[in-house]
Amino acid sequence: MQIQSNSSKPESIETTAVVIGAWADQPLAGTAKSIDDACEGRVTRLIEAGEVATEAFSTTCLYALPGVKADVVVVVGLGDANEPDSGLAWKAAGAAARVLATRPRNSVAFCLEVEPVELAVCGSITGCVGQDLFRGEKETHPFESILWHGVSDEQIQHGQILGQSMNLTRRTVNLPAGDIYPESFAAECQAVVDQSDMQIEIWDEKKLAQENCGAFLAVAQGSDKPPRLVIMKYHGTDKSQTPIALVGKGVTFDSGGLSLKPSASMLDMKCDMTGAATVLGTMNAIAQLKLPVNVYGLVGLAENMVSGNSYKLGDVLRSRNGKTIEVHNTDAEGRLVLADTLDVAVGMGVDRIIDLATLTGASMVALGRDTSAVMTNHPAFCESLLAACNDVGESAWQLPMFSFYSKHIKSKVADIKNVGDARWGGAITAGKFLEEFVGDVPWVHIDIAGPSFQEQPKPWIDAGASGCMVNALVNYLTNHHR
Ligand code: BES
Ligand code: MN
Ligand code: ZN
Repeated sequence: MQIQSNSSKPESIETTAVVIGAWADQPLAGTAKSIDDACEGRVTRLIEAGEVATEAFSTTCLYALPGVKADVVVVVGLGDANEPDSGLAWKAAGAAARVLATRPRNSVAFCLEVEPVELAVCGSITGCVGQDLFRGEKETHPFESILWHGVSDEQIQHGQILGQSMNLTRRTVNLPAGDIYPESFAAECQAVVDQSDMQIEIWDEKKLAQENCGAFLAVAQGSDKPPRLVIMKYHGTDKSQTPIALVGKGVTFDSGGLSLKPSASMLDMKCDMTGAATVLGTMNAIAQLKLPVNVYGLVGLAENMVSGNSYKLGDVLRSRNGKTIEVHNTDAEGRLVLADTLDVAVGMGVDRIIDLATLTGASMVALGRDTSAVMTNHPAFCESLLAACNDVGESAWQLPMFSFYSKHIKSKVADIKNVGDARWGGAITAGKFLEEFVGDVPWVHIDIAGPSFQEQPKPWIDAGASGCMVNALVNYLTNHHR
């Protein structure tokens, strides 16, 4: 996909389609007014007649407007200007892109005055890419080229990196577990690292055993696919600056193991590596953007399967940091993979850890499908991360980590068990479990089970993998981390 800046008058751009924006209860302005003037006020007339909606992210296609070169003008509603939707720029551009991508188009022009423009450019790239990877007859047709009106080359470059990184995350998640398993995911990481200035370490099952990753290995042992732990290292500033770690859950398929999931719950479990894919997309973005930070990206990759060698209920696992874990449910596998992966991050001497995981259905019971559940051992760190989410319209909400929750994961035979006593507060007991493995390092856990993978499309993005948290993490590492 090629993206270029354009400064011609909107009405004379030679593309099949031009996108303009319209705020509710406000006269058209800027590029939208210029189109409106060229067609003698027809757009305004249609808005006043109620034929063109201005409600946020609604889209209306107007064809063959006189005085306008493009065949199609897409009017995207921007909603109330006094209370703009969070994430407006990304969503507005995405919504216009999605409606235009319903058929092949080689070039589309965006004339949208929304801020920040980088996120708008990003939206034009994510909106025209869908989950229909294996369909002969596509439903979503990525544009060959995109023109952005009145945007600088630097802004385009920045937005393009964000969009491509999100699409990298989305594609990796949308690929089925037959294609993406620990070794092939590690190969994807290698390919990303090869394209940038990063170093990589890939731990195989032998190395994981040498490193005493007993919790991680237990999850993987029921699968014919061997596990991998990938460490990507990006140094964007002086090496004396202690790095931040991003840690991702990479369960490439979660059958539940012997605590087998029912079919309906298993169907989408290729998405259980979204945390890892989010770390990969974010590492790609920060390396391409050459952000002045040092970041380590760690992903724990395993498949949770059923076989004669599966780990069992009642097994006691010895984790890398020495704590013993009694297995009460083999479907609570993500926290076991993360226990050892977090401990590796701690051992690398990082000064902060953010982990991302499709960890619990309970987080969705608590907050719904659109909001990530956030937990921490360090309120100030968490606050700045939530601010970074808020900036880019990423919905996230904190859950409490009161110390009394810890008694719910006490075991009679081992130090801890891998599920809480009852299902109540399941997102929190999972967070308390992870907390056992981060020592004193400031840490934020983001349970993305809800937003990571959507059954239904949004106006601005196809269903399937959402690419959530990539922009929030890049924003955090750019603007909020010091
Ligand atoms: N990967 C699932 C959580 C999940 C569910 C993610 C739905 C995305 C959509 C996780 O491994 C899991 O199975 N969690 C269990 C934990 C329980 C056994 C304590 C759950 O949430 O039911
Ligand atoms: Mn599970
Ligand atoms: Zn899982």
